Amino acid sequence: SVLYKRYEEDRDQNKFVTDQDQWEQNQIVKSQLKVGAQDRVKQEEQYDYVFDDQAIEFLNWDWKSNNKDDEIIAKIDEAEKKAKTIEETRKSLPIYAFRDELLNAIEEFQVLVIVGETGSGKTTQLPQYLFEAGYTKGGKKIGCTQPRRVAAMSVAARVSEEMGVKLGYEVGYSIRFEDCTSDKTIIKYMTDGMLLREFLTEPLLDGYNCLIIDEAHERTLHTDVLFGLVKDIARSRPDLKLLISSATLDAQKFADYFDGAPIFSIPGKPYPVQICYTKSPEANYIGAAVTTVMQLHITQQKGDILVFLTGQEEIETVQENLQQACRVLGSKIRELIICPIYANLPPDMQGKIFEPTPPGARKVILATNIAETSITIDGISFVIDPGFVKQNFYSAKTRASATQRAGRAGRVGPGHCFRLYTKHAYANEMEENNVPEIKRTNLSNVVLMLKSIGIRDVMSFEFMDPPHEQALISALKDLSDLGALNNEGELTKLGRRMAEYPLDPMLSKTIITSEKYHCSEEVISIISMLSVQSSVFYRPKDKKFHADKARQNFTKPGGDHLTLLNVWEQWVDTNYSLNWCHENFIVYRSMTRARDVRDQLVGLCERTEVKLESNPNPADIVPIQKSFVAGFFMNTARLLPFGDSYQKIKFGEAGRRIHVHPSSSLFQTPPKWVLYYELVATQKDYMRQVMEIQPHWLTEAAPTCYTKAELEKLDSKKKMPKNHQAAGSSSSSKS
Ligand code: CDP
Ligand code: MG
Repeated sequence: SVLYKRYEEDRDQNKFVTDQDQWEQNQIVKSQLKVGAQDRVKQEEQYDYVFDDQAIEFLNWDWKSNNKDDEIIAKIDEAEKKAKTIEETRKSLPIYAFRDELLNAIEEFQVLVIVGETGSGKTTQLPQYLFEAGYTKGGKKIGCTQPRRVAAMSVAARVSEEMGVKLGYEVGYSIRFEDCTSDKTIIKYMTDGMLLREFLTEPLLDGYNCLIIDEAHERTLHTDVLFGLVKDIARSRPDLKLLISSATLDAQKFADYFDGAPIFSIPGKPYPVQICYTKSPEANYIGAAVTTVMQLHITQQKGDILVFLTGQEEIETVQENLQQACRVLGSKIRELIICPIYANLPPDMQGKIFEPTPPGARKVILATNIAETSITIDGISFVIDPGFVKQNFYSAKTRASATQRAGRAGRVGPGHCFRLYTKHAYANEMEENNVPEIKRTNLSNVVLMLKSIGIRDVMSFEFMDPPHEQALISALKDLSDLGALNNEGELTKLGRRMAEYPLDPMLSKTIITSEKYHCSEEVISIISMLSVQSSVFYRPKDKKFHADKARQNFTKPGGDHLTLLNVWEQWVDTNYSLNWCHENFIVYRSMTRARDVRDQLVGLCERTEVKLESNPNPADIVPIQKSFVAGFFMNTARLLPFGDSYQKIKFGEAGRRIHVHPSSSLFQTPPKWVLYYELVATQKDYMRQVMEIQPHWLTEAAPTCYTKAELEKLDSKKKMPKNHQAAGSSSSSKS
């Protein structure tokens, strides 16, 4: 088939292909293609981004007029979709056959490791079984952690439906900045980070009778820390049941860590999945993904498609491209229902991915790696895997996760997985396993939390995979530079307040400091906006000019933080208007999310007794700048003469060359000294969300880190070109 020209099959290497005959039968149907009227080609030419030559060949073949089987397909679809009752669905899950055995094992052992394929029913069923077996008697709760917020929400919604209760009552969820539980809640889904927070107020987690640490294989930072903490409380609370649940088979490590806990395997029977690789590397994997979706949609009779992408931006691009392709083809093709799913997708839109596909239509799900194991979507026959994952930066993902992704195609029947990379890349360029997050991330947040839970010696905390000693030491140093720890490494009063915030310590320090400068209202507005930053400004392809113009109008002196503040304040002035967002190319749901975050921050300020005050003189931005310097003095850089590149002043790789991100309002007029919210590494190392600062504020904010002499030396070392000086002094006169 033409489709296959793009790909190379992999029969020998493929562990999913178990049945050769089956594989033969399920090869993509070859005979249906017919090359027809050439005039269509002309029409498609302008969309060469979407369709390559081979795709155009496909498009000459008219699905409707050439396929007499449509009716039959629709009938089959209908029969299959005939609503199973909830009871039947629950009983059809692989885990159901082991319900009693599982409950017996749980009764017998305090800690149990549970392994089962994605979709076997671990996340939705285990808490219900525990509930049915009476583990919530006496008002005790069952807690189940998830590494991802969307998973926590959607699973809680599903389970409340299965139990016939209203979400937020008996079954609820708790994620950062959103608590959907009540006094009645007995089954509580939550992000691993939220359970971690509960240790702050309830060190033995007395409210819980059972804890399920789900998706243990993901090895997120928070899950790893939880392992240490729950292992510890299990010793002092023999009544507590602990389940460690994982989708992959390397469970032995969990069992060993939990003192030889037994492993309970739920046998699953995934169907064979045929794996195809591209013959040569794809220069544009987004384009390749879009093309492959359209080719599948046009040539394949049924089966939904799942595409893995790295984030919201990519998902939206692909969504636009697919919509455009469908518009062009109009009634020549069947309906294609496009469902995005990513972390910040509003809950009302999440439900769409679980709705059964209507007869005759096809669903294409555009997902981040959330769909790898966290969320089970039924009915997927085709997986498209570009081979990228977003961790702290873009990187090729691991073979382990490639295997998981492919597996998503084989849940309901034999499937196909199209990998948009070569077999060579798979074998030679990918790591076998995920490096646990704890090995590659900044630990200051976690160290602060451990300290406030009362763990004095974090260096000897029992980690499953201990982080690099250097990473722990630098986290301790960062915290003491921020003033959260004293010389003895004990939590200071400031540190205790900072730990109350589910935020990076640099942000919580900024908030707490803003009190001193009487501008906490503005600072929490900015921080709420920073939490949704990447998706505030909307830039549709066909209206780039207008969008950029609208964005420019928001620009304020001082940089991106103040620009975001301006957006926020204008929106508040319109009384949170949707229309205003449309008119100004602002993403409404990002704004409503920022509003939610802000409401939470207001609550946290009250709890930590940070007085809410508005900057008395809005024209003077120095108080706001100084508040941020207090938290972000480690993320500072100095403009190098003759050029647009900066040098990091201190901390980490001092002297590292970095750049203002082109989307920044300071891109055109780079000031001499800046602080930044984050660094993103793409082709260059870019600073995102940049604020202009004055060097002497640094000695004021962090006297132990910066000396006046060294900054003065840097300041005068090389004279700036005139225009840079001018740009850099817009607010200096006020300080
Ligand atoms: O956790 P595990 O991967 O073992 O499975 P699960 O998440 O408990 O999913 C079991 C079943 O529930 C699957 O067939 C899902 O389709 C269904 N489910 C759903 O319909 N809606 C959700 N939000 C989550 C799961
Ligand atoms: Mg699960």
